[in-house]
Amino acid sequence: MCGIVGYLGNRQAAPILLDGLAKLEYRGYDSAGICVFSDGKLKVAKAKGRLANLSGLIDGGRAISGTVGIGHTRWATHGAPSDVNSHPHMAESGKIAVVHNGIIENYLKLKEELVRKGKTFCSETDTEVVANLIEYYYDREKDFAEAVRDAVGQLEGSYALGILCQDYPDTMIAVKKESPLIFGFGEGENFIASDVPAILRYTRRVVYLDDGDMVVFTKDEAKFYDAFFDPVEKKIETVDWDISAAEKGGYPHFMIKEIHEEPKAIRGTLSPRIRDGRVVLDDIELSKEYLEKIRRIYIVACGSSYYVGCLGKYILEKTCRIPVEPILASEFRYSEPVLGEDTLCIIISQSGETADTKAALEEAKKRGARTLAIVNVVGSAIAKAADDVIYTWAGPEIAVATTKAFTTQLCVIYLIALYIADNLNTISPKEYAAIVDELMVLDQKVALCLTAEKIEKIRYYAEQYFSVRDAFFIGRNVDSAICLEGSLKLKEIAYIHSEAYAAGELKHGPISLIEEGTLVVAVATVDQLFDKTMSNVKEVRARGADVFGVTTEKHAEEIKKTVPSVILVPETHPLLQPSLTIIPLQTFAYYVALLRGCDIDKPKNLAKSVTVE
Ligand code: G6P
Repeated sequence: MCGIVGYLGNRQAAPILLDGLAKLEYRGYDSAGICVFSDGKLKVAKAKGRLANLSGLIDGGRAISGTVGIGHTRWATHGAPSDVNSHPHMAESGKIAVVHNGIIENYLKLKEELVRKGKTFCSETDTEVVANLIEYYYDREKDFAEAVRDAVGQLEGSYALGILCQDYPDTMIAVKKESPLIFGFGEGENFIASDVPAILRYTRRVVYLDDGDMVVFTKDEAKFYDAFFDPVEKKIETVDWDISAAEKGGYPHFMIKEIHEEPKAIRGTLSPRIRDGRVVLDDIELSKEYLEKIRRIYIVACGSSYYVGCLGKYILEKTCRIPVEPILASEFRYSEPVLGEDTLCIIISQSGETADTKAALEEAKKRGARTLAIVNVVGSAIAKAADDVIYTWAGPEIAVATTKAFTTQLCVIYLIALYIADNLNTISPKEYAAIVDELMVLDQKVALCLTAEKIEKIRYYAEQYFSVRDAFFIGRNVDSAICLEGSLKLKEIAYIHSEAYAAGELKHGPISLIEEGTLVVAVATVDQLFDKTMSNVKEVRARGADVFGVTTEKHAEEIKKTVPSVILVPETHPLLQPSLTIIPLQTFAYYVALLRGCDIDKPKNLAKSVTVE
């Protein structure tokens, strides 16, 4: 949460900072601010609300001249979203300016000490404490880098910090611990940012900073230090994806662009890992001997990634015959989980930085389990910490509500399932080949769910139902798990109260909430359970619900007997079916949110990467 960016070079900093912040707004959008060296003084501008407010305030950056600056977009933690709590924060005397992503856990104690030493504060934030602490050491030591080093030594918690000092107009310092931070090398200019898209327009050469790292830089030079303040060499990586991947490219929202990118993302994730009809996972080191020892698999994640875990239970248990338990990371970490060397922990995270998921990973490692992470963001904390990592090659996902990251995570689950099942001989060669054959054409089948005709139909249903107050998503087996994600999509971007239930469970409580005009989305793709789900549909229709059904083409005629509004998806192997079923559910949520006038890419109160508990 929160995004930071820094620029030091020969160009005007403010427009570059605003541009970078626009690419980071997915991380939080409660307020934004910048600080620029302008006529030798640290000049700050900040505004509550969206970045557009700040941009308007400073005329798109033209109102503040200067070639060195830091910027911030905030997801409020300490103190309400307000101008005064917005970053950058200045130390009391105005000598030090700081932008911060993370949480300083001991800030109250530090604040009390600083107050005793005579410092005064104007905001409720933990970040203002950091600025004052640095200033305190700077006043004693008169050296910018040493002051930062000493102040950082006092901090507990997580932080990525960009820091300017009034007396060092051509230097910037950045430090990182448990919050993401990259350094970008330009020609006669250098950058820091929370994420690659913020600086990709200017450079592709980046260093992914490690925890404890500090970089002290000018426009021509960068010196890196480790946690002990010893100089370190860092590996420069080249970002190989294009800036267009982080822009809307003619679509009105990132979400719908990312939905349309799903076939490509699925292809990119699957095709390098299927060779001559076999799943090849070069990225990981899970030996046959190790796999034979596994007695249990946990899948640990948050949000939509957790729902991939819920699907993973059906897919892995069916193919590998090992008990699988999907569990929310926030629960897992405090549940004293029963695990050891015979447990594989699959950790799923798009961002690779979700605080609960990362802590759960550490807990699993501590208890002796092997960890295998499925991550989208290269070089992220979870990717680095796990024993093995398989990347989803979905490209940058900007919309807060995940779509293409979700479907590619699911693809990795299919690959892992086949890989383990093959090693354990729990799958017949025929079944293995049948799934691989379908994986090879999965991208094309997803594309068939996104034809103009299909989209038109979804829009039509969105128009029918966009004003409902309550929605229930029901299904059985894998359909019940995909309902969890379909329901979350509607809830988070269209702000409609929505719940997902296993269809057979409806009669044990939630059916009492069904009344005239309640929307029930019935997903019925599992052949053996189709009739049972239709019985549940009849029960809700009898109580006045409007039903919108999703099923496979082969059930087209049958479903019409029970459900008037239907979306058909192509058929695939039953275990892969959720990859197709989710597409109309995502697009339905998108068009409903559009008709309700919601801010689709930045739903209220949410952020894309959640680095707080
Ligand atoms: C946030 C996002 C969700 C995401 C969840 C877990 O809540 O809005 O889309 O599923 O975090 O994020 P992760 O990056 O760990 O997958």
